[in-house]
Amino acid sequence: VPYQIIILAAGQGKRMRAKQNKQFICLEDKPLIVHTLDVFNEDHNCTSINLVINPNEQSEMENLIACYKYMDKVKFVHGGTERQDSVYQGLKACDSKEGVVLIHDGARPFVKKDNLDKLTEEAERGGAALLAVPVTDTIKRKTASGLTSLNRSELWAAQTPQAFHFSIIEKAHEHAKNTGFLGTDDASLVEQLRLPVEIVQGSYDNIKLTTPEDVEKAQAILNKRSMNEGE
Ligand code: CTP
Ligand code: MG
Repeated sequence: VPYQIIILAAGQGKRMRAKQNKQFICLEDKPLIVHTLDVFNEDHNCTSINLVINPNEQSEMENLIACYKYMDKVKFVHGGTERQDSVYQGLKACDSKEGVVLIHDGARPFVKKDNLDKLTEEAERGGAALLAVPVTDTIKRKTASGLTSLNRSELWAAQTPQAFHFSIIEKAHEHAKNTGFLGTDDASLVEQLRLPVEIVQGSYDNIKLTTPEDVEKAQAILNKRSMNEGE
């Protein structure tokens, strides 16, 4: 299934506590955002990439992109204060307002091609789908009235990409804007419209680099991959 993608890189990476936006952290020989862009540059179903960035980092991003020679697929879009604002800007900048659009965190470099194929097929069929993995920890809910335990067999950890018919996610973002709803992912905005969202089981390796510990995990995933290639 062909798709356009919005890749989000306009955050500050505060929890990473690095000197720079975490998108520029080097893993092996390449910056994090380049690992992520590579996945979609190599997927022939990906027709265009809207890379959402902080305007202050545009020249640095442009230099990177020029080094890695995929200028033809990538268009820069200026992001906003919240992740949701950045997605909104990314949607507004899409060339086509039809077909399937993916929304993905720039900080998630390890998504696999076979999961992308399953995800886009599910979104084309049902309108909205996301990658997620079963939760392995027991999750507790703590409120003013005390502690409750959630049924782990019903819980999923949401990942990106999340994939949508363009018209559905556009409507969901307009609705969220009008009602002042701020979600931590895009599927939650579609849920607000009471439309169905399908889960496609992804991989535990599809981590988001959030804290310094995640850089070590990322290096371990890359080591595992290069060992498998050598087999
Ligand atoms: N993002 C964005 N625009 C924002 C906030 C976040 O494009 N206003 C992007 C980030 O660059 C990241 C993705 O959304 O690739 C997921 O967000 P998160 O992991 O929270 O990254 P940051 O917001 O950069 O990190 P932190 O919350 O620790 O500051
Ligand atoms: Mg953030």
